[in-house]
Amino acid sequence: MSGGTDSFKSAMRLLVGGVTLLTTANGNERRGMTATAVCSLSVDPPRILACVNLQGATYRVMAAGRAMTVNLLGASHENLARRFGAGSAHADDPFASGNWSTGSNGAPRLLDALAALECSIEEMIVTRTHAIVIGDVRDVIVTGDPRPLIYVNGSFRHVDALEHVPPSRPAQTIQ
Ligand SMILES: Cc1cc2nc3c(=O)[nH]c(=O)nc-3n(C[C@H](O)[C@H](O)[C@H](O)COP(=O)(O)O)c2cc1C
Repeated sequence: MSGGTDSFKSAMRLLVGGVTLLTTANGNERRGMTATAVCSLSVDPPRILACVNLQGATYRVMAAGRAMTVNLLGASHENLARRFGAGSAHADDPFASGNWSTGSNGAPRLLDALAALECSIEEMIVTRTHAIVIGDVRDVIVTGDPRPLIYVNGSFRHVDALEHVPPSRPAQTIQ
């Protein structure tokens, strides 16, 4: 088995990812991107990390604005995931679709996300092509819908087996 990028990609396609939208703002400029390279870093204090390509507009605005919201997407958000995964080249404003508000950190928040974690950016560790962005979680909003959008083997999928999972805990705030 070779250790080349093709075999690496083949393996990583099998790692099931929860789909998120990372959003950010700096002044009036707002950006967002679809991301699966996101995970919890620590509970106390609550921190989350995301791996963000340095070439994207989202990285540039994050670096300037030092804010990031991690919006966890649900089964109904596939179109948004495609829209925000298409790169900055899209002609129209990607935020024209979806119900958005502005969070306490200034970044866009998707109102019907399964959960939104509003962060200030604690650290951005630049390593070759990407930055590991560490978010200091300031506010958490949980809507209660437990059905995630997932990405596996190059496709968006729903987890039907989760349809009978009880709703997640009600909205709460960390301060
Ligand atoms: C399912 C999916 C997952 C993605 N995960 C990541 C990720 O974790 N990190 C990343 O840098 N790009 C990821 N991308 C690519 C970005 O979403 C894409 O390049 C984005 O449009 C960049 O937007 P920007 O140029 O406005 O920053 C993913 C795309 C898709 C469709």
